[in-house]
Amino acid sequence: MTIALVILAAGKGTRMNSDTPKVLHPIAQTPMLVHAMRAGAVLSPERTVIVTGHGSEEVARAATSEDEAAQIVVQKEQLGTAHAVAQARDALADFDGDVIILYGDTPFIDPRTLERMIEARASFDLVMLGFDIAEVQPRYGRLIMDGEKLVEIVEYKDATEEQRAIRFTNSGLLACNTKVLFELIDAVGNDNASGEYYLTEIVALANARGLSATAIKCDEAETLGVDSRADLAAADAEFQTRARNELLALGVTLMAPETVYLSADTIVGRDTVIEPNVVFGPGVTVESGATIRAFSHLEGCHVSRGAIVGPYARLRPGTELAENTRIGNFVETKNAQIAEGAKVNHLSYVGDASVGASTNIGAGTITCNYDGVMKHQTTIGENVFIGSNTMLVAPVSVGDGAMTATGTVVTRDVEPDALAVARAKQDNKPGYARKLFEMLKAKKARRNKGA
Ligand code: UD1
Ligand code: MG
Repeated sequence: MTIALVILAAGKGTRMNSDTPKVLHPIAQTPMLVHAMRAGAVLSPERTVIVTGHGSEEVARAATSEDEAAQIVVQKEQLGTAHAVAQARDALADFDGDVIILYGDTPFIDPRTLERMIEARASFDLVMLGFDIAEVQPRYGRLIMDGEKLVEIVEYKDATEEQRAIRFTNSGLLACNTKVLFELIDAVGNDNASGEYYLTEIVALANARGLSATAIKCDEAETLGVDSRADLAAADAEFQTRARNELLALGVTLMAPETVYLSADTIVGRDTVIEPNVVFGPGVTVESGATIRAFSHLEGCHVSRGAIVGPYARLRPGTELAENTRIGNFVETKNAQIAEGAKVNHLSYVGDASVGASTNIGAGTITCNYDGVMKHQTTIGENVFIGSNTMLVAPVSVGDGAMTATGTVVTRDVEPDALAVARAKQDNKPGYARKLFEMLKAKKARRNKGA
């Protein structure tokens, strides 16, 4: 069956209390809309139409950066879900298959559920997706069933007390032939408690025309809609639980799973150990058999087999750690390629730099990569020893087998096997310390007396 996705994403999301359009709020560092797009993409849709409204340009940018073929339509006024779907009419005028309607604020739909909807379409003209709510809530339309047959959907606001007690509720997602859907939508009115054009009205309209409708059931967690920051936090928590369980099942050790924060695209290999309180920002891959120690923060980086990171390390975008590297406590790296077996163990900043194999970077080393206007590169060779508290003023390079003395400010390239020393000469003045202490103690005593 050829499929077109229509994703509704025009709503303002008033209850988010935000300048950011609702569907762009992230779950696990990825906009909700993109989660919905990825779920739908599993069906290999022929077309994807995104209905935008509030923050249309921003939403369009996010959508097309995920899928450049996505078609964007604009719903100027948000007059209801049926009106939103109607905006996709022109984009699908020559389309002949089924439409699947998704919501941009319902990010967790399981692609297998969408497949079940498509299967149910073989026996019914209109397939809605519903779920049983654990607790009766003053939201969600109620699905009025007669056996397998869906009779109508009644919005909570318009429902009788008896209907409000029904737990089988509408997710809003549906599958229907494109032409049939737009014909039904044409007949939708706005004579209801909200004065909106309800998409849900198409069920009664379909039945009145002798078409068949049903509702299939999915898990409540899949249709978790996000309307507020509290919903957003709950959705993120739900995502985290699932993603952690997936890693555990793949053979990753999480010492305290509930304290590890993952992104939607985090990849971790088998037998890697992740200690408590680690944050994975977007774009992180960790190979098998690495160790990420407690309180580390990683984003946009690659960690190879056998590497040990942290505790308290910060790996920023562009960090590439080769096998068996060590990044220790209070070390920050950015756009840095650290070759096999190299170590940066303590209190350092390594940015816009490459570090050769087996090189040791001493405590407190800084690559001075920024001159206030431009960024510059530092190149350090293999088997180098960078002494503690070395400042590498980029652009600069240190050749293979070279050394820098502790406290050196490196402003010129260091040739291979050379020792670079640049620091003030030390002068020890005999007896001076004792005199100084006595002077200071006497001063303190005078002051205390005076007070
Ligand atoms: C809708 C359903 C309700 C269902 C619930 C599930 C209707 C009338 N009601 O109610 O039965 O239980 O979803 O979450 O369909 N949108 C637009 N343009 C509009 C209006 C909405 O794009 O003019 C988008 C929103 O951005 C959102 C989705 O459609 O992604 C649903 O809209 P929302 O206002 O949240 O509908 P609910 O009142 O939750
Ligand atoms: Mg809603």
